[in-house]
Amino acid sequence: MKYIPEPFKIKTVEPIKMTTKEDRIRAIKEAGYNTFLLKSEDVYIDLLTDSGTSAMSDAQWAAMQLGDEAYAGSRNFYDLEKTIQEVYGYKYFVPTHQGRAAEHIMSQLLIRPGDYVPGNMYFTTTRLHQEKAGGKFVDVIVDEAHDPASTYPFKGNIDIDKLQRLIDEVGVDKIPYISYETCVNMAGGQPISIANIRALRMFCDKYNIKIMLDNTRTVENAYFIQKREAGYANRSIKEIVAEICSYTDGCTCSAKKDGLVNIGGFLAMNEEEFFIAAKAQVVIYEGLHTYGGMSGRDMAALAQGIRESVDNDDYIKYRVEQTNYLGERLTGAGIPHVIPHGGHAIFLDAKAFLPHLDQEQFPAQALAAEIYVETGVRAMERGNVSAGRNTETGENYRPKLELVRLTIPRRVYTQSHIDYAADGIINLYQQRNKIKGLQFVFEPKVLRFFQARFEQIEQDSPVKARV
Ligand code: F0G
Repeated sequence: MKYIPEPFKIKTVEPIKMTTKEDRIRAIKEAGYNTFLLKSEDVYIDLLTDSGTSAMSDAQWAAMQLGDEAYAGSRNFYDLEKTIQEVYGYKYFVPTHQGRAAEHIMSQLLIRPGDYVPGNMYFTTTRLHQEKAGGKFVDVIVDEAHDPASTYPFKGNIDIDKLQRLIDEVGVDKIPYISYETCVNMAGGQPISIANIRALRMFCDKYNIKIMLDNTRTVENAYFIQKREAGYANRSIKEIVAEICSYTDGCTCSAKKDGLVNIGGFLAMNEEEFFIAAKAQVVIYEGLHTYGGMSGRDMAALAQGIRESVDNDDYIKYRVEQTNYLGERLTGAGIPHVIPHGGHAIFLDAKAFLPHLDQEQFPAQALAAEIYVETGVRAMERGNVSAGRNTETGENYRPKLELVRLTIPRRVYTQSHIDYAADGIINLYQQRNKIKGLQFVFEPKVLRFFQARFEQIEQDSPVKARV
């Protein structure tokens, strides 16, 4: 079978507007060629992100009606606590409004100025919170992760030799924890293997270093383990998720992804002292420890969403295979993109798509803007703009991966939407030579990709100095 049919039917519909190419040219200019600045009503198919864009189930909407909006001790908190303990196995947790709030609290509590935080590729908000706490992120992902054409099945894995070298260089006392992400977002949604996490656990036990999981897309990662790793074909997704978490000391989580909700997150751990310290922080930045950044109804929807994400294996199979289907369509047309296909998104290789543009002309940003103009599909840049500037040299990082992410919201778009997007991108690929590079007209100092504005570089015009 070429695709897995949707394991749900539609009960509520939300109309979306069809726009003309003229409308879209106007809209992208107004948005400074930044798809983050487009109005969602001007978008036909929104593949900007899988974050907070999931469709909730009827059971989740029903659970919201049972929200207990008590300031303290809401019953939905206790239900969520029980669910997190059952599904992920962590003893303690504090709710936060989303993932980065959990990253903030964890970074402030665990990192001391001058520390190094090794991880399997950076994530934008994660690295920023590490830096704000005085730490320095060090990438210890396997080399294959930086090669969009490598077919290595677990490109999210940590290279333990790189980790050893870092310890030899800076000393184990300077390493507060390992930042370990499932289905590594910036690598293209690439999974880690159980073999890697087991080896990492043994290594960290030797040095007494914590492993803190970025648990944002662990369910998707579990599907890849079930599909690709020897000995896991007959294990349920629920069992695999629990096994992944069991090798770690705690996690941050953006529940807006796997958790199937529109807002929410948490910081979880097994160590009581860490929990007590986290509770002291969450009241300052988020709210009382029994609601953190969420209302009672949000916690109710999340508890139900977590259960649905692992209750049966059909959901996650459909979800990851829908993404894979889009990738297969692009493979069929010879369009360069990251392989193997990730769980939440297909990542176009903008350097190979637009070889006529230098990385300083932001090919991924330019391609995302042009996809919108041609098709009404909104994608996201994950390249030189997202990577930002090196804080010491002021130079753009020029990451090896210069990607455009076509991110699939969960349970939102149908098979024909995916085909429509694929057809549009294939059509654009035939005319790729006409796509122009971009230059900044406004560059924010941190997380610049969210609010930056650009203009097209006209042929033969000199590249402008930085604003
Ligand atoms: N970690 C990972 C791996 C993420 O993908 C995200 C968010 C976060 C942490 C931060 O969580 O947004 O809830 O504060 N990723 C979104 C995305 C923004 O589009 O990939 P948050």
